[in-house]
Amino acid sequence: MSLHKNLEIKARHMDFPFGSMNALKFHDDNIYKSSFMAGLSAAFPSGEKEFIDSVRNYRNKVKNPQLIEQIKGFMAQEGHHQYQHRLVNEELDRLGYNTSKVDKMLKKMIDKRLKVLDDKTRLAFTVAAEHVTAIMGSYIINHPEFLDNMEQPFKDLLLWHAVEEVEHKAVAFDVYMECEGDVKYLQKITKISTRLLHYRLFRNMLVLAFGTKHWTSFRDFKNCMKWMFGKDGMWRALRKPYKDFFTEGFHPWRDGGEELIIKWQEEFYHPEQNKKSEVYLQAKTG
Ligand SMILES: [Fe+2]
Ligand SMILES: [Fe+2]
Repeated sequence: MSLHKNLEIKARHMDFPFGSMNALKFHDDNIYKSSFMAGLSAAFPSGEKEFIDSVRNYRNKVKNPQLIEQIKGFMAQEGHHQYQHRLVNEELDRLGYNTSKVDKMLKKMIDKRLKVLDDKTRLAFTVAAEHVTAIMGSYIINHPEFLDNMEQPFKDLLLWHAVEEVEHKAVAFDVYMECEGDVKYLQKITKISTRLLHYRLFRNMLVLAFGTKHWTSFRDFKNCMKWMFGKDGMWRALRKPYKDFFTEGFHPWRDGGEELIIKWQEEFYHPEQNKKSEVYLQAKTG
């Protein structure tokens, strides 16, 4: 049974005041937490470009008209995520990070991969990455305290990105299932992808932190490790939703998620940051 959900997926065009960010340690006054977030942001523009390209390869093979519409929404959302992260990455560089270094490393890796991987494998890697971004997004919407003491524009960016990752979490998966359907292969690639992702996120964090003069803070490193891997840390909480991927009959919407879209709308959405909203337009014209 297909659990495909006929959800309308649309990009929200945002305008975040990134220019007001002013601290190198913009997250909890901690160089490692801030570098981890900066590393994540640095990886999005090139990473999400590959997500779009790998799904685009299948656009003409998909027959389900609802899914065809959702692919357009997925591409629009990911395209806008790239744009916003490029903007914030410029500000992160102004604060003292070298996000372009991370971007260059990632581009090199993707270019190498493109020379050897077929379309099916590229799509499977995207499905795997989309599973991880969706469970991370779900986690931060449910546990915004994970982002406590983060400068507001970056926090708003992450929560907006999170809700759109939740909205389109099944698109690449549904495309893969309709066009390839090889679950065993998808699971194999997901395991490889997760290992590589852990390594890369950790390396990106270190590359960025080591590029600053604050990296020697053992206190920051220790607190960051606790924040990630401790009893209430994100990584531990993600284990179960991650493993759900490998259970019989898994589908990204099987265990819900719509409530997170409502939660974001009610608790974290700032219409004055949405270029299409009345408040935004009034502020710009009035
Ligand atoms: Fe995204
Ligand atoms: Fe995504």
